[in-house]
Amino acid sequence: MAQHTQRTAPESKVHGGRSGGSYDFLVVANRLPVDRANGGWKRSPGGLVTALAPIMEKSDGAWVGWVGSPDEEIEPFEHAGMALIPVDLSTSEVELYYEGFSNATLWPLYHDVIAPPEFHRTWWDAYRRVNERFAVAVLARAAEGATVWVQDYQLQLVPAILRERRPDLRIGFFNHIPFPPPEIFSQLPWRRQVLEGLLGADLVGFQRPNDALNFARSARRYGGASGKGTHIIAGGRQVRAEPFPISIDTERISNLAQEPEIQARAKQIRQDLGSPKTIMLGVDRLDYTKGIRHRLKAFEELLSEGRIEVGEATLIQVASPSRERVEQYRLLREEIEGTVGRINGAFDTLQHTAVRYLHHNYPVEEMVALYLAADVMLVTALRDGMNLVAKEYVASRFAGTGALVLSEFAGAADQLKQALLVNPHDIAGLKDAMVAAAKMPPGSASRRMKAMRRQIIVHNVEEWSASFLNRLAEVTHG
Ligand code: G6P
Repeated sequence: MAQHTQRTAPESKVHGGRSGGSYDFLVVANRLPVDRANGGWKRSPGGLVTALAPIMEKSDGAWVGWVGSPDEEIEPFEHAGMALIPVDLSTSEVELYYEGFSNATLWPLYHDVIAPPEFHRTWWDAYRRVNERFAVAVLARAAEGATVWVQDYQLQLVPAILRERRPDLRIGFFNHIPFPPPEIFSQLPWRRQVLEGLLGADLVGFQRPNDALNFARSARRYGGASGKGTHIIAGGRQVRAEPFPISIDTERISNLAQEPEIQARAKQIRQDLGSPKTIMLGVDRLDYTKGIRHRLKAFEELLSEGRIEVGEATLIQVASPSRERVEQYRLLREEIEGTVGRINGAFDTLQHTAVRYLHHNYPVEEMVALYLAADVMLVTALRDGMNLVAKEYVASRFAGTGALVLSEFAGAADQLKQALLVNPHDIAGLKDAMVAAAKMPPGSASRRMKAMRRQIIVHNVEEWSASFLNRLAEVTHG
C-alpha cells in the first residue's frame, strides 16, 4: 500500500523550477542521487552519482529518478542545490522491473552472460510500464527544446517515448554498462523494442568504442537501422553512437588523500591488521561480474604455495551489499563468504588474518584511507563497463606509490594502460601479476602511477559530462 511519506523540510521543496515548473536540462536515472539519512537525505555514493551530482549542482537542472524503496509517494524536493523529481515504484514493480528485467535479464545479458539471463514476459511488461512512467515524469517538466539525458540500461525505452511525444527535445542516452555483441544481444526476446527505444536518442554514449560498435551492429541487424560502422540511420534520422569513457572527481579524491586525518586513518588500518608488509585490496559491489571468486582463488593458491605468507600479506576485501533479493546475488554471497571462511580457517594465525572481509558500505573518507593503506589494488572484473574503483585508487595515490592490477575486461583498462593488465580467467597469470605488483620496484611503480594520474587528472568526470553534452548540442544543432 502506498505510504504518503514526506520527510523533506517544507522550505526545501521545489517551488516551480525555472520557467513555471519546467526545466531546460533533465537527467533521468533509475535512482535519485540521494539516500535517506536520519529522517532527511544525503547524497548517495556510487559511480553514477559521483559522475553527475557536480553538474546538477552547478546547473539549474532537475533529476528524475526512484528513491530506492517501494510504495512511497514523495513530492519533488530540493537537496544540495539539485531539484529532485521522484518516480514511485510499487513493491511488485521493484520485483519485476528492477530486480527482474533490469538485474536478472539485462544485467547478465549485457555482461557476457556470466550468469544466465532469465526471460519473463511479466518482467518485460513491467519494464515497459515503468519506462513509460519515467518518460511521463520528464514530459511533464521539460521546457520547450530542453536537453534530456537518460542514464543506463534500466531506462532504454525512454528515448523513443520522449521522441514520439516531444520532437522538440534534445535526447541523449548514456549506457554505463557494456553493450554486448549482437551474437549475445540477439537472445533477448524484445531486442527490437529495446533497440528502437535507444534509437529515439540523438546521441547514444558508451564506455568503450567496441560497445558503440556492438550497438550499431545490433541496430542494423535487429532494429531496422542502416548505415556503416557507428554511423546509424533510423527512421530517417541520424543517430550517433560514440564512446565517452566516464571518470571520477579526481581532484576531490586526491585532496581527501592529502588530508592528515585520512592519512592517519590509513596508518591505523595497517596497524590494526598487525602491520603486514603488503596490503592487497579489493573494493566491489558484491556482484558476480567483479571476479571476486577469481581473486580469492589466486590469493588462496599463492598462500598454499608459500609465494606469499600470512603476516606478510593481507587481502582486504570490501564487498558492498547489492541487489540482495536477486537469487544470483544471494548465491554469490554464500559462495564468497564460504570461500573466505575456508581460506581464513586454513591460513590465519592468532595474530594475523589472510582475508579481512567486510560486507559494508563505507563513506568516501574511509574508502580513501583504505586506498592509501593498500600497496596493491586488485580490480579483476570479468566484465565491467568502466570500474571507477580503479580510477579512485589512482587518484588517491598522490605520492606515486602503489600498484594496480587491472582486468583488461574493465573499460578502465583503455585509460589506465600502465596498470598490470590481467585476464582474470587466467589464474596463473593473475597470481604472477599479484606477486609482481607486491614486489614492484619503487621507480617502476612511480612511473606507472604518475602516468595513470596524469590521465585521470585531465580526463575527469567534469570533462566526461561536458564532452557528452557538447557533442549532444553539436549533433542536434546540425
Ligand atoms: C551499476 C549501474 C548503475 C547502478 C549501480 C548500482 O553501476 O551501471 O546503473 O545504479 O550499478 O546498482 P543498483 O542496482 O544498486 O542501482
